[in-house]
Amino acid sequence: MTKSQKTAVVTGAASGIGRATAQRLHRDGADVLAVDLNEAGLASDDLAGMRTLAVDLSTEAGRDAVVEAAGAADMLVNAAGLIRLKPILDFTVQDIRDIYAVNVEAVWDLCSRIGRVMPSGGAIVNVSSVSAKLPSTQETAVYASSKTAVLSITKSFAYAFAPRGVRVNAVCPGIMDTPMQDLVIAKLAEIRGVTPEHIADVRMATVPLGRGAHPDECAGLIAFLLSDEAAYMTGQAINQTGGMVNW
Ligand SMILES: NC(=O)c1ccc[n+]([C@@H]2O[C@H](COP(=O)([O-])OP(=O)(O)OC[C@H]3O[C@@H](n4cnc5c(N)ncnc54)[C@H](O)[C@@H]3O)[C@@H](O)[C@H]2O)c1
Repeated sequence: MTKSQKTAVVTGAASGIGRATAQRLHRDGADVLAVDLNEAGLASDDLAGMRTLAVDLSTEAGRDAVVEAAGAADMLVNAAGLIRLKPILDFTVQDIRDIYAVNVEAVWDLCSRIGRVMPSGGAIVNVSSVSAKLPSTQETAVYASSKTAVLSITKSFAYAFAPRGVRVNAVCPGIMDTPMQDLVIAKLAEIRGVTPEHIADVRMATVPLGRGAHPDECAGLIAFLLSDEAAYMTGQAINQTGGMVNW
């Protein structure tokens, strides 16, 4: 691995994909700044040996603190995310603002302010979603639109930073076994008046490989995109969906 001595900022590091990614980069030798709203989650032994920062990324003050602590980081992973489920016609403007503040505004702001001082050879990975490409779950429509915005942000900053040798890519995970996935299943069951088991079966039937993935699998993909092995890749949106989408 080539990440030894390098510094990495990982948001959403208290749980799920962000935590698995922080652990993977730490194991690979990076000096990791683990960022999350969830202070108790950051204090877990899972993140032992990492610097931690508890902030609300939906606020400018929170993001200012991350930018200051990041310095000239070599790697940035925007994994923090917010999902809210409702029948599509019930979403309010406030729902859009709340979801976009974390999933879009924070991703843009950290790409812009950390990316502009990132040394040549640095890399950013933004965690989008399969829903950016396939918004078939109507109850997550606002979230899906925010994740499509993440793909556009990724491509724009890929162009902006390419002349400086800084790469920007996105991953589009499908069904990952995390607390967010549990929330989606429970909430969909409630809204549709069916059992969580039924929802889980219906969702799994859309996955050709017939299983969900452990967050470590996504961390592995992110680590690859951050590494020099992906030195010729920028502006990409890589699906990790068990074959659910192939475009
Ligand atoms: N789990 C899946 O199946 C799946 C699929 C596609 C995309 N994703 C995306 O992967 C990323 C990680 O999701 P996950 O499944 O690990 O979910 P998770 O809920 O386990 O983790 C998300 C983390 O983001 C943090 N967070 C939320 N709002 C924040 C804020 N305002 N400030 C700081 N931190 C905040 C939470 O505290 C939490 O620790 C998200 O962007 C999510 O949209 C997940």
